[in-house]
Amino acid sequence: PTLRVFPDAGALAHAAADLICAEVRAKPEAVLLVATGNTPMPTYAELARRAAAGEADFGRVTAVQLDEYVGVPEDDPRSLWGWMERAFVRPLGITRTVRLSDPATFDAELRALGGIDLAVLGLGPNGHLGFNEPPSNPGAPTRRVTLTPASLESNRAYWGDLPVPQDALTAGMPVILGARRALLLVSGEHKREILRRTLTEPPTPEVPASFLQRTPLTVLADAAAAP
Ligand code: F6R
Repeated sequence: PTLRVFPDAGALAHAAADLICAEVRAKPEAVLLVATGNTPMPTYAELARRAAAGEADFGRVTAVQLDEYVGVPEDDPRSLWGWMERAFVRPLGITRTVRLSDPATFDAELRALGGIDLAVLGLGPNGHLGFNEPPSNPGAPTRRVTLTPASLESNRAYWGDLPVPQDALTAGMPVILGARRALLLVSGEHKREILRRTLTEPPTPEVPASFLQRTPLTVLADAAAAP
C-alpha cells in the first residue's frame, strides 16, 4: 500500500477528491463503493463543490452502498442509505446506485456491473471494514452481522440520543478486497494505533482492514492519525 500523510483533514479531503475525480475522468462509468461515517464527509463536500462548479461530472458513475442497519427505514436519520443520498448521491448528481438491502442479490448485481473500480473506505476504531467486524476473514461474504460493543459505542456519536441499531448488513470482504483500487481515509489521533496495526501487523481477522495490505490500496491519513 501507499501511505500519504497530509497536515490536516482539509488537505486530505482535497487529495482524496483529486484521486476520485481522476478515476472518474479516466472511466466516466466507474463503479464506486462508498462509505458513510464522519471521515469521508469533507471529501464528499469537496466533490459536491466540484460537481456544482462543473469541474467534475458524476452523471454516469454508479454508487454502491457499503453497509446498512437492519430495520431502519430510509427516512430515519440513522439510515446509512439516507446519509449516502444526502452527502454523496444527490449533491454529486449521481443517478445510478446499488443499494445494500438484500445480501442474496447484492454480489450478483455487482458482478453484472463488472465489479468495483474504486472503493472509498473509512477505518473502524476496532479495525472493521464496512461492518465486517473483528474477527472477519478475507472470505467473509456479504451478510447480516451483529455489531460489536465497540462499534455501537463509536457509532453513537452520529445521532445524539438515538440508539444505534445492533444488526447490520455489510458488503463482504471479497467485494471490498476485490476492488480494482481502494482509498482508505483516516483522520484523527483516535485512529493512529488501529492504523498502525492495519498497515504493519501481519494481516489478521482481528483487524479486518489489515487484509487491505494485499490490495492496490492508497491510505490517506492526516498528521494526527499517521503512525
Ligand atoms: C460506514 C462504514 C464504517 C466507517 C467506520 C469509520 O459506512 O463503513 O466502516 O467507515 O466506522 O467511521 P468514521 O469515519 O465515522 O470514523
